[in-house]
Amino acid sequence: MTDQHGTIDSHPLDTETYPPSAEFAAQASLNDSSVYWRAAEDPENYWAQEARKLQWSRPFTETLDWSNPPFAKWFADGTLNVAANCLDRHLAAGLGDRVAIHFEGEPGDTRTITYAELTHEVKRAANMLTSLGVKQGDRVAIYMPMIPEAIVSMLAVARLGAIHSVVFGGFSAESLRARIDDAQAELVITADGGNRKGRVSALKPTVDDALALQNGTELSVKRVLVVQRTGNDISMQEGRDLWWHEEITSYDGEHTAQAFPAENPLFILYTSGTTGRPKGILHTSGGYLTQASSTHRNVFDLKPETDVYWCTADIGWITGHSYVVYGPLANGATQVVYEGTPETPDWGRWWQIIEKYGVTILYTAPTAIRACMKVGRQVPEQHDLSSIRVLGSVGEPINPEAWRWYRDVIGAGTAPIVDTWWQTETGAMMISPLPGLTTLKPGSAQVPLPGISIAVVDDEGNAVDRGQGGLLVVQRPWPSMVRTIWGDPDRFVETYWEKFGDQYFAGDGARLDEDGDIWLLGRVDDVMNVSGHRLSTTEIESALVGHHAVAEAAVVGASDETTGQAVVAFVILKSQQHLLTPEEAEQELRGHVAQAIGAIARPRQVFVVNELPKTRSGKIMRRLLRDAAEGREIGDTTTLADTAVMQTISLRMRSDQ
Ligand code: WT7
Repeated sequence: MTDQHGTIDSHPLDTETYPPSAEFAAQASLNDSSVYWRAAEDPENYWAQEARKLQWSRPFTETLDWSNPPFAKWFADGTLNVAANCLDRHLAAGLGDRVAIHFEGEPGDTRTITYAELTHEVKRAANMLTSLGVKQGDRVAIYMPMIPEAIVSMLAVARLGAIHSVVFGGFSAESLRARIDDAQAELVITADGGNRKGRVSALKPTVDDALALQNGTELSVKRVLVVQRTGNDISMQEGRDLWWHEEITSYDGEHTAQAFPAENPLFILYTSGTTGRPKGILHTSGGYLTQASSTHRNVFDLKPETDVYWCTADIGWITGHSYVVYGPLANGATQVVYEGTPETPDWGRWWQIIEKYGVTILYTAPTAIRACMKVGRQVPEQHDLSSIRVLGSVGEPINPEAWRWYRDVIGAGTAPIVDTWWQTETGAMMISPLPGLTTLKPGSAQVPLPGISIAVVDDEGNAVDRGQGGLLVVQRPWPSMVRTIWGDPDRFVETYWEKFGDQYFAGDGARLDEDGDIWLLGRVDDVMNVSGHRLSTTEIESALVGHHAVAEAAVVGASDETTGQAVVAFVILKSQQHLLTPEEAEQELRGHVAQAIGAIARPRQVFVVNELPKTRSGKIMRRLLRDAAEGREIGDTTTLADTAVMQTISLRMRSDQ
């Protein structure tokens, strides 16, 4: 999407703009722009007011404690129960009969779950977890398909003041084990499998493999709780593994939620950094829930009584945490949860779901929009999508062409699109239009949300002028900010704060246009963005050199029409591997990476080369490899130790394609 000069593909900065329609603005909850300056005058007060929309057992008296930067405390003397805010509170308000979840399984099975039912299930699960020994501060790993029990599990863990670590179901046994070890989880909640693309994707066998790995670390896991979903044949280890449906029958639905301090840890979520080791991003309770719910309400103009909301993200990612579980449920929203993929049984599935449930707000990723675009507008056009009134985008910059297609074909040419920029670390949305206020520009996330201070700065940390590019920083603490990297506060300080002192360094490049609107330009570090998911080049390189045939490897994110970026690897094979043809090597190594990390990391291409372009100090010049992978003219090679190497690589690639 971006090149080394930091320009997005074909974005004209004097682009067409789309003001909110008078009709939309009139009904929007936020339609007075004074919200921005009121929040800017006193951001802490703004967030304190948002926080008071939650239910506190003991109200907080101090909003922000920034006495020990960069370790923030928000609402620290207040206490609350996160799960009770998402459940019991709505029952007390008489909303028990409201549908919380319209669940749609991939094979077509459905469940309608009201807030009363969801509360009942979470209370039973909390009782079950208590008797399995789970208590405040304990870590529970969750490795699940997108089924209601995944959400019930997260809320039950939260209800007990324990910490969940959800691991995306597409991750490998090794990746799962690394996360279990890092968090020292004693319980894993999983399922026999999930339904994906018309097949059963087994999960429990991967958990078994993960727990059986002999990696020199003593296994922390004592118990595995298994939800029955797909009925595939699995083995249960006596004394360790328990069936959820057998256990749960012993527990009733009485459970009084205890209040915990606002800074009680809520979850750890691992994300790729610039080194091979994923970072355990720690989020806490009061501030996180405040910003997740506030942004969910404001950015989508949520009307909980009438809206049917659908976020297509998996709970294995931060979007699933904040905008499937905590934001929508804290707001008492009615939402769709879909287990499967958009192309199963055919590409009409999403549109059929929208029509069936009358979805009014859709939140998805540019990669999905581009995939649907490729299939063609005739597919969604067969469905009645007239219920849609707000569209959201997240995960990577949305290219103007996809933006227009999304608005025209899915949003009837009228629905506002909110392009939301944020990160696992920010916990909730940071930059986004407000649909009743912002004149939209396709391709730009545009403006920091009320109460958020963002700047684009140069390398010295000075704000750049309009019309200039630079690095994105957050200038003041925000309620849902990452509190630390689990077990590694030094890495937390180093990664995000050392560069600019008290300004948070996001790792993204950005540009300010003449109106001061923000255009995100992609990562400035060795992190790729594939289908809106972060992948570390280093992590994939270590997986490749972990293969017995590979001597050296370099990985780059090359632009890709559908996935935004795609993983492209260059490898040097060990000398005794010359019998392997390049095609065999490519196939073998693509599979190897998928096996080692997970299918999302599978390289699009693996090129076998004799040498890699390196500087005289031995640093691999990925910029040149990216040029080659994207079929561009090779850039400046004067700093290379061996200037001929790129020529050889280019020739190699041409003969391959
Ligand atoms: C990175 C964070 C936020 C949940 C999904 C990804 C990129 C995210 C946008 C956007 C341009 C975006 C950034 C960011 N990103 N949203 N609207 N426009 N870029 O979470 O895995 O933590 O990745 O995704 O590069 O740093 P994540």
